[in-house]
Amino acid sequence: MAKLLMIPGPINFDPEVIRALSKVTVSHVAPEFISIFGDTLRKLRQVFISEGQPFVIAGSGTLAMEMAATNVIQRGEKALVVNNGVFGARYSDIFKAHGIAVDEIQVEWGKAADPTEVREKLESDDYKVLTVTHVDTSTGIANDIEAIGNVVKDFDTIFIVDAVCSLAGQRLYHDKYHVDICFTGSQKALGVPPGLAILNFNQKALDAHAKLKHPVECFYTSIDNWLPIMQAYERGDPSYFGTPAVNLIYALHESVNQIVSEGMEARFARHEKLAEMMRKGLTEMDFKLVPEDGWAANTMSAVYHNGIADADFRGQLSQEGVIVAGGLGKLKGKIFRIGHMGAINANDVSATLNAIQRTLKMF
Ligand SMILES: Cc1ncc(COP(=O)(O)O)c(C=O)c1O
Repeated sequence: MAKLLMIPGPINFDPEVIRALSKVTVSHVAPEFISIFGDTLRKLRQVFISEGQPFVIAGSGTLAMEMAATNVIQRGEKALVVNNGVFGARYSDIFKAHGIAVDEIQVEWGKAADPTEVREKLESDDYKVLTVTHVDTSTGIANDIEAIGNVVKDFDTIFIVDAVCSLAGQRLYHDKYHVDICFTGSQKALGVPPGLAILNFNQKALDAHAKLKHPVECFYTSIDNWLPIMQAYERGDPSYFGTPAVNLIYALHESVNQIVSEGMEARFARHEKLAEMMRKGLTEMDFKLVPEDGWAANTMSAVYHNGIADADFRGQLSQEGVIVAGGLGKLKGKIFRIGHMGAINANDVSATLNAIQRTLKMF
């Protein structure tokens, strides 16, 4: 029997999404594909909860990080990164790789960023962009994007939110929260196999791009190349820049159809309920969560081991039919991480908790 894949992405995918992958591949300029891609882009606005411009590009979440950054900031300008985990740190590395000066607000792992500190830092210098990881997958904390957005709206700074581990799971309203660019990877709460970078730019971000002093120093990720393509797909016109991942877009279309028919509010509520069930079950077994109280994400949980060696614990749990992930960065070997996002239900959470209980009995 297939094991339950409970890592924070890739996740267990809905069978209809997997079936969509095996449809016959057609030309990327065939009318039926143009129609599917156009419909997917329109429905992504409902997922981002935004009037902005969605982009779907072949690549992983890291490509989306780079694409968001390089289209609105260049050498000579300064970025501010909220770093409360591995993926915040990765954003600093991306800016540095492009010769962009970067300052960090370093937040203790397991804690969420303080919006007041963000305001003080934004007042202290001229930052072109601010990046915040919504759910940092290394610690399982969820930053308060609404509160930080309420700060950033008072500045010209472009607010970039890494929603790779949150979009379509953790409550997030792109426009209402004053987010300018937001992105995800297909393999997480969006529920599509790995391979797509999905972004959304609002008008402020598109305007910032248009006002850049120099041409974007990337070719594949430049929105100068992709914007006309996304617009053509929505109009229903054939167009080409780079061959889209046709079958992954079939799968994305199936998944966004499911998400939209579930409804975003119902989806957020389901994730909240299942996350609570997972946290309650874990704490009843005396596990301690990495995030401080009140800031745990609803898409995943990061949990300290009860003194059991990481490889032994996860190895035995796998024998019990459930795969969870190990720790990242400085928490490697000290914690395990459980994904609970996408097409997940209460049976999956119960099965995971029961398997953990059986595993504990072995030590
Ligand atoms: C919050 C966050 N940002 C960025 C990434 C990078 O995404 P990818 O591994 O798809 O490149 C991940 C991956 O897990 C992530 O969790």
